[in-house]
Amino acid sequence: EAGARVVIEECMTGPEVTCLCFADGEHLVPMLPSQDHKRAFDGDRGPNTGGMGAFAPSPKFTPELRKLCMDTIFMPTMRAMSAEGRPFKGCLYFGLMLTPDGPKVVEYNSRFGDPETQPILSLLRTDLLDVMRACTDGTLDKINVEWESGAACCIVMASGGYPVEYKKGYEIHGLGSVPSDVFVYHAGTRKDGDKYLTDGGRVLGVTAAADTLQAAIDRAYSAVKLISFTDAHYRTDIGKE
Ligand code: GLY
Repeated sequence: EAGARVVIEECMTGPEVTCLCFADGEHLVPMLPSQDHKRAFDGDRGPNTGGMGAFAPSPKFTPELRKLCMDTIFMPTMRAMSAEGRPFKGCLYFGLMLTPDGPKVVEYNSRFGDPETQPILSLLRTDLLDVMRACTDGTLDKINVEWESGAACCIVMASGGYPVEYKKGYEIHGLGSVPSDVFVYHAGTRKDGDKYLTDGGRVLGVTAAADTLQAAIDRAYSAVKLISFTDAHYRTDIGKE
């Protein structure tokens, strides 16, 4: 019912990039650009999902594009909200299409992105709490938000059948064998005694950082192969393109 009426506004083509920004109501600091992989299957096929994997930084979002977006999208958005008496403080999500006519906004969210946040914050060198405080205090211009060099990648392990129909309650094996420098974020899991069970569509976000994007991808996939549960599904081409 909710989708019974559709308004077609414009067809946009091009790569999609997520740029999360810290905002304090007046100043705005873009985080590292990231690329999500929204379709369920390899090759960007299948139904749209919440995101099957992401990496950061995106080489497609060049420093020139960053400046262009700051001047024509990010800061105008911030100023417009302030002008309406609703200054925005927190994390502002810009979903961008890099079209042949330049970057355009696909969506805004007033939250972090999932799974983009996993690789992005893996590379944040500055203490996140200090940045959050600067957001609430209106002092983002006084803090130097620093990032690690290199790259990070998150592979989403999902329940087979997601995002349409899937079963829950399968035991997750192998979590204890994942190396300590790989982070396994629990999204749709439940603890039952000392076991972890699947409890959602997107189950785990397996995230690794490394000196290069390829090394981060390889490290994340090596960890994914150590984890198993019935009907587990993940894309094998995150970051490949
Ligand atoms: N990964 C898309 C979103 O967080 O909305």
